[in-house]
Amino acid sequence: MDKIVIEGRARLKGRVRIHGAKNAALLVQCAALLTDAPSRLRHVPKLSDIGTMSRLLEYLGCGVEGDRTIAIDPAGVAAGPLEAPYDLVKTMRASVTVMGPLLARYGRCRVSLPGGCAIGARPIDQHLKGLEALGAKITLRHGYVDLKARRLKGGSFVFDTVTVGGTQNVMMAAALARGTSRLENVAREPEVMELATVLVKMGARISGAGTSVIEIEGVDALEGFDHAVVPDRIEAGTMAVAAAITRGDVLLEDAPVDHMHATIAKLEEAGVTCQVERDGMRVIGPDEIKPIDVSTRPYPGFATDMQAQIMVLTLCAQGQSLITETIFENRFMHVPELNRMGGDITVQGNSAVVRGPCKLSGAEVMATDLRASASLVLAGLVAEGKTEIRRVYHLDRGYEAIEKRLRKLGANVRRVRGGKA
Ligand code: UD1
Repeated sequence: MDKIVIEGRARLKGRVRIHGAKNAALLVQCAALLTDAPSRLRHVPKLSDIGTMSRLLEYLGCGVEGDRTIAIDPAGVAAGPLEAPYDLVKTMRASVTVMGPLLARYGRCRVSLPGGCAIGARPIDQHLKGLEALGAKITLRHGYVDLKARRLKGGSFVFDTVTVGGTQNVMMAAALARGTSRLENVAREPEVMELATVLVKMGARISGAGTSVIEIEGVDALEGFDHAVVPDRIEAGTMAVAAAITRGDVLLEDAPVDHMHATIAKLEEAGVTCQVERDGMRVIGPDEIKPIDVSTRPYPGFATDMQAQIMVLTLCAQGQSLITETIFENRFMHVPELNRMGGDITVQGNSAVVRGPCKLSGAEVMATDLRASASLVLAGLVAEGKTEIRRVYHLDRGYEAIEKRLRKLGANVRRVRGGKA
């Protein structure tokens, strides 16, 4: 298994272009199942999660070609298994979002239950209740959910909790339901807006995406789409922290600044300069980082997917910071590894007290999930000496060639192929 080796303390300088957003691309891939016509997705990041979704689409009977630009031909799905098998769902939980489109377009589907994952239980009860509100008949058997509905009917549903995937799943189903649906307490994440934009391109009638109430007037059929994926706010945020903690000066080309207000606000509070320029956002790290308190929230609040990375910023701050995780119950798995590198972090319930400034020193560490891995890379950039990060496949799920990009900015980072796990 590959590992990433970093010699810390280099100051990052230069420009880096932000890739398309993984989470937006994954859902738009699913949306291709809502029609018989071919679709084309451009500006797709080359990531293992995208590959997993492409494999699932192929398993379902789609023709899938390309990587940076993906052409999807769903003509074979009607004759396919209409099933998301356990192996693919357990590799990537977002696989459950094929449920809404398959059910709406083909009247039935079977999807493996995802089960727990590294960052918490992550149930899908809200996806199922939302689909039930549109008339789906649901049975749970042998670890699979069976869904049936000859034709979904528009309905009203109030989500108990704000869920991005749940909102997207039910929104896609409602696009082909008979009649109007009203979804309340929906997620407002940019990835929901992106999906709505694509659905509208396909002929769907959707209003309110980006607010907490979405109305959808179902149509009988949808067309294919041609769409370029929005840049990734989490990749941009991660690179911004990299620039900040190394006292660097980096232009994040194409950074989706409008989707990054919460991250930018916290960076600025910590003393980091974030300058919006014509080509993107320039981030300049200060000589002294100030401590900050951060609490994760649904969008437009501070993203849980940036929590591990911002923690590294607070490790470098002159004083005590408090980081609270309110979205997932087990998302501090990076803390023991950061402490092994010299961090002084204490977890109490869903909060972490970070006592900066910490003098980090390189160590052998283990990646546990995607964003946790990113935090270890960031810590490696400021640590004295050599950091070796194992289980890099977590990182490859969400960051395309991160070592090359950081190297281009002056960091001493390399990938060693085939190291031990
Ligand atoms: C998406 C993102 C993920 C991000 C998360 C929160 C994708 C592919 N993944 O994941 O990177 O960390 O949003 O911003 O876009 N919940 C329920 N019942 C449900 C569904 C969710 O209780 O039916 C809970 C979850 O356990 C969690 C919270 O709701 O505590 C938010 O989860 P959700 O927004 O659904 O996350 P995902 O869509 O899986």
